[in-house]
Amino acid sequence: MDEFEEFYEANRQNWNNRAELHSSDETGRYRIARVLAGGSSLHEIEAREIGDIAGKDIAHLQCHIGLDTLSLKHLGARSVTGLDFSATALKAARSFAAQAGTEARFVEASVYDARQALEGDFDLVFVTWGTIIWIDDIFRWGRVVSSLLRPGGKVYLLDMHPQLGQFDIDEGWPKLRFPWKTRAADPIVFDLDYTYTGDPRPLTHRRFYELIHPLSDVINALVVAGMSVDFLNEHAVVAWEAFPGMEEVGEDLFALLPEHPKIPLSFSVGATKL
Ligand SMILES: C[S@@+](CC[C@H](N)C(=O)[O-])C[C@H]1O[C@@H](n2cnc3c(N)ncnc32)[C@H](O)[C@@H]1O
Repeated sequence: MDEFEEFYEANRQNWNNRAELHSSDETGRYRIARVLAGGSSLHEIEAREIGDIAGKDIAHLQCHIGLDTLSLKHLGARSVTGLDFSATALKAARSFAAQAGTEARFVEASVYDARQALEGDFDLVFVTWGTIIWIDDIFRWGRVVSSLLRPGGKVYLLDMHPQLGQFDIDEGWPKLRFPWKTRAADPIVFDLDYTYTGDPRPLTHRRFYELIHPLSDVINALVVAGMSVDFLNEHAVVAWEAFPGMEEVGEDLFALLPEHPKIPLSFSVGATKL
């Protein structure tokens, strides 16, 4: 196993472990009951920014336990297909789909293999919250996204801002700690005891590897893959409590406290395949 396979495998095991905890989540973070009742787990930002999805064929990359995938169907998509590399996450996703009575396909594959793994072309590729930090080649990611779309089809990406990714907690305060871009061979290594939902059950696969991609790389990855950028937005909120004591300013959307100098916490990009 080379170093890249080692990073990938550690991340997959960490995600299998988290998926087990998240699918029996009692913190409310994943809005399981709401989705099983036919509702939506999308946050206000993505629900607004994706626009009308009625009648669209949607590929949801890194779909995790499938709750957003099912939500997209509940919001009117014609078809939804979730893809993830975690077998544990997909087992939960299929079980939630059955419980909700919602038609959805879930496919186990690496993002890099999405074109071969998914049948047909899509109107929308949906990618949100906690995704590209796991991707070590953002330009390859851009080509995969583009290859999944029909001409005129769109990608919607909403994720942690790379500027936020540079900070870590030190004695409770955000401290600048990581570089603004990382190399695939030199990812940021974390060993954490708990997942981010506040679940008190400890992780058994604690190690994972993350990457930081500058916004310029994300945008250029889409452009060189044949896409035209419709918008790039930066937001003062993020969908998890990145630092202890952040202020919840919308449902599951957190902002820095007034005493902290403001930085962008998340960003979103919409782009259309030419
Ligand atoms: C934070 S979750 C994404 C959450 C998602 N927004 C949702 O709907 O719940 C990250 C997901 O990415 C998946 N993942 C990480 N690296 C991957 C890769 N290289 N290929 C496929 N899936 C990957 C993990 O298994 C995990 O389910």
